Amino acid sequence: MGKVIVVTSGKGGVGKTTSSAALGAALARNGEKVVVVDFDVGLRNLDLIMGAERRVVYDLINVIQGEAKLAQALIRDKRLETLYLLPASQTRDKDNLTAEGVETVIAALKQSFDWVICDSPAGIERGATLAMRHADVAIVVTNPEVSSVRDSDRIIGLLDSKTLMAEQGERMEKHLLLTRYDPARAERGDMLKVDDVLEILSIPLLGIVPESMDVLRASNVGSPVTLSDERSAPAIAYFDAARRLRGELLPVTIPGEKRGFFGKLFGRKAA
Ligand SMILES: Nc1ncnc2c1ncn2[C@@H]1O[C@H](COP(=O)(O)OP(=O)(O)OP(=O)(O)O)[C@@H](O)[C@H]1O
Ligand SMILES: [Mg+2]
Repeated sequence: MGKVIVVTSGKGGVGKTTSSAALGAALARNGEKVVVVDFDVGLRNLDLIMGAERRVVYDLINVIQGEAKLAQALIRDKRLETLYLLPASQTRDKDNLTAEGVETVIAALKQSFDWVICDSPAGIERGATLAMRHADVAIVVTNPEVSSVRDSDRIIGLLDSKTLMAEQGERMEKHLLLTRYDPARAERGDMLKVDDVLEILSIPLLGIVPESMDVLRASNVGSPVTLSDERSAPAIAYFDAARRLRGELLPVTIPGEKRGFFGKLFGRKAA
């Protein structure tokens, strides 16, 4: 039975889709079978980042409405044969995303994939709560700025109350992925410090992804950054984060700083 991960944030534009694709590809590179599910009905971004936009015929809503079988909607990545995408609809109404439909689709995906990665839309509305509903693990994507941290804090509240795990009295495993970290701005004091973000959110750190042009270049060529430029700083950060997701204990380094960040931050508090 596969693990269901939700990649969520509250705030928009922080790097959820970038991270879903990069982590999905990093996990699949290891031979694990991965599907990334786009819950952002109406916007449909994930297929562009994965370079699959011309291959989309059926989507998540078609499957939920019974207009296509799941196998018809799944798109296999051109580069990795264990990486799949379940696209969202650009045109359909968000209301077509029903709770029962999502439950059936996730249950089916768990049967045949090792990892089911749900790329959440921004906000705290239905789309976001449905994306997190069946998760076993949450990745909270946050930028080191006040508005992003505040929204992530709200999302943590929802993860602990509105999910299936919460309803069953269990606590969801949650990880912080700090993205778009800019060492120069951190040095100038223009961004929140890593310690401050961890103090406020109080969940273990999965990784720190630096702000980098490599991410933009990757999305321009329709490739997760972990496939287009695997030696780039953001790709390395995502590969390490994928290893931590598998349970490996690796020190986290802050971009631009030498010191490792091991005992102090990683796993210092239970989720
Ligand atoms: N590490 C990074 N360095 C530079 N740019 C980045 C980085 N991560 C993400 N971006 C850029 O930030 C923008 C938003 O990223 P992305 O679409 O992944 O965010 P999102 O959280 O999924 O947004 P939305 O809430 O709209 O779904 C994109 O233009 C992306 O290329
Ligand atoms: Mg997105």
